[in-house]
Amino acid sequence: MTKNFTDITDITTVDLQAIIADAISMKAARAGLSKGAIDPDPALSGIMLAMIFEKSSTRTRISFDMAIRQLGGSSMVLSTNDMQLGRGESVADTALVLSRYVDAIMIRCNAHETLLELTNNADIPVINGLTDRSHPCQILADLMTLREHKGDLSRLKLAWVGDGNNVASSFLHAAPKFGFALSLGCPDKFAANEDDIGYAINAGAEITVTTDPKEAVLGADVVIADTFVSMGDVDAKQRLQVLAPYQVDAELMAGAADDAVFLHCLPAHRGEEVTAEVIDGSQSLVFDEAENRLHVQKAILKYCFDKI
Ligand code: CP
Ligand code: NVA
Repeated sequence: MTKNFTDITDITTVDLQAIIADAISMKAARAGLSKGAIDPDPALSGIMLAMIFEKSSTRTRISFDMAIRQLGGSSMVLSTNDMQLGRGESVADTALVLSRYVDAIMIRCNAHETLLELTNNADIPVINGLTDRSHPCQILADLMTLREHKGDLSRLKLAWVGDGNNVASSFLHAAPKFGFALSLGCPDKFAANEDDIGYAINAGAEITVTTDPKEAVLGADVVIADTFVSMGDVDAKQRLQVLAPYQVDAELMAGAADDAVFLHCLPAHRGEEVTAEVIDGSQSLVFDEAENRLHVQKAILKYCFDKI
């Protein structure tokens, strides 16, 4: 059966833990190699990955491209604007055609339904490279980073501050799988998805929901921020106004644990969701986090081909 990487909810804890462990071990195995060198034990030789982008990307695009190359495979980067998909060809037909040419697809699209339609019609693995609903690859890179810096994830309290967006949803999906506590500090207007909160609570996760950012970060081991205006959001002015009190600054970080770390999936907007002092300060792990996109995506690709 084809293995997709659609959402964290679809994958067992054993497989998720294996993906992170494999990413950590592949990262160590490459020590000293140049970035363009193929892995000592390339797991996906001859595999062609098509990457489809309906919206912008720096990290996802480049880290997946390097990931498949280091694994011995190749990639092609496609923009929906340059495909017939951008002129109304159906997602289903696109899935069927691509399944005849390439071995796997990674897609970044606006509507989550597009990802699901692609997944339902392709007979090759499909990976979610971000939709309006979720960003699972990012969360595995974040959790890999926390495993490296903080150890056992099930002992941690994570605090999400700001917009309850797609990235927040993937943290909600991950909370019951990894056993960490998650506290959400978001305004009512931009609260996290109710279904995802319900999913996490029903699956046994310790979830706290508050509109007070100070309450959210109290004693937290990890404070997480993301942009106030995600790709596709049309209400930028209102968002910047309503979310302004949710900026992560040194004062807010002081309410977290003394050894708390700061995460942000990037791109960041210094002076909006986070101050330069925090994101460029000693508690910030954002560039380790960005690097780990590469290592974790190699493990995600291997998972899709049963190579872990
Ligand atoms: N964090 C992330 O997904 O970055 P890009 O939008 O640059 O891919
Ligand atoms: N929430 C952001 C994440 C970008 C990586 C967005 O969807 O634009």
